[in-house]
Amino acid sequence: MKAIILAGVHSNIALAGQALQRGDVVGMPTETVYGLAGAAFQPEALARIFDTKERPTFDPLIIHIAPSGHIGSLANLEDLQDKWGLADIASLSELAKARARQLIEKFWPGPLTLVLPKLPGVPDLATAGLGTVALRMPKHPVAQALIQAAGTPLAAPSANRFGRISPTCAQDVFEELGDRINWILDGGSCQVGLESTVISIDRDGSLSLLRPGGIPRAEIEAVVSQAVPATESSKHPVHLSAPGMLESHYAPRKPLFILPKRISELSQKEIAQWRDSTGASQAQGLAVGLLLQSGDPETRSAEFSEKLGLPVIARSLSPSGDLSEVARKLFSEMRGLDASEVQWIAAEPCMETHGLGYAIRDRLQKASFKKA
Ligand code: TXA
Ligand code: MG
Repeated sequence: MKAIILAGVHSNIALAGQALQRGDVVGMPTETVYGLAGAAFQPEALARIFDTKERPTFDPLIIHIAPSGHIGSLANLEDLQDKWGLADIASLSELAKARARQLIEKFWPGPLTLVLPKLPGVPDLATAGLGTVALRMPKHPVAQALIQAAGTPLAAPSANRFGRISPTCAQDVFEELGDRINWILDGGSCQVGLESTVISIDRDGSLSLLRPGGIPRAEIEAVVSQAVPATESSKHPVHLSAPGMLESHYAPRKPLFILPKRISELSQKEIAQWRDSTGASQAQGLAVGLLLQSGDPETRSAEFSEKLGLPVIARSLSPSGDLSEVARKLFSEMRGLDASEVQWIAAEPCMETHGLGYAIRDRLQKASFKKA
């Protein structure tokens, strides 16, 4: 099998929609990362998603819905129950409903996933047998059109092999899964570049952050006027064993080591000490990859190469130091360095701890090499 990359135009979207109705899986562009979509109410399609990704079935999927076309609102909380048959809205307290409405109104369509009590009809494979279901309304027009063409909500994890870097363009999906799927819809490069922020809403209206992502936590807290703590393991026990929460995830094949400081702030001695502590060895003639948070790659690679005493191939996530550009390019530049002739990758740390910086730090940490 060799996947065909289809331009994201109406006729191809209709074709892919039919494939989804038949239980096939399709590479789908979204504004965050590309997903591997399957019909959410077809257990065979869900099983294909897990098989294709080699993903363990204890890790639940996000189900994607499209705008409902109601006048004056893109999404309606009750639709999650009455139209899509996904969430048990009636079981929510008034506070929980109010919170869900605020978040939906502000952030849908967009990179926010809400975890809500599920209805019994949602297949266990989609939720890993949990009593909750993760829901998202993507902003990408091709994703919205595909859901509409399929006529069903679509379960879609990121379209990478288990544990690997999430894909941010159609070609990335081809490299990850091209030998295992039939169709990839091309919707260009992802605008956000990081997966959605995952927030759970409990019946009593308490919220928790299960995964940092495209929408900063502070923006969410501002909308709901309450704190949104990162998840406690006791409250979401299964989630702890979910790959999004595993230590090593989103990882390149080459070992990636995070530098203690920005290149410009590191002395030759500090770099030597850092390299000793990582144990990064080096074969003759091979270069080291350098993933810069900002600045000009040519000058910085020359600086690093001189201090390190090795040839360096550098990529800069945002020459001007713009955090949303860093997020957008993080996975694709990591993927590019991984594919280049480097033996290992040194990554500058993201010094910003707030906003998108929090999610960027999370992904860098998870991509970094862990000693066995
Ligand atoms: O941006 C995104 O969210 C992308 C695009 C394709 O939409 N999708 C994505 O899916 O990142 P995936 O499968 O790679 O990540 C889903 C995350 C996992 O960490 C999973 O554990 C969590 O959502 N999740 C799903 N259902 C859950 C539930 N019922 N309770 C807690 N966590 C859940
Ligand atoms: Mg993923």
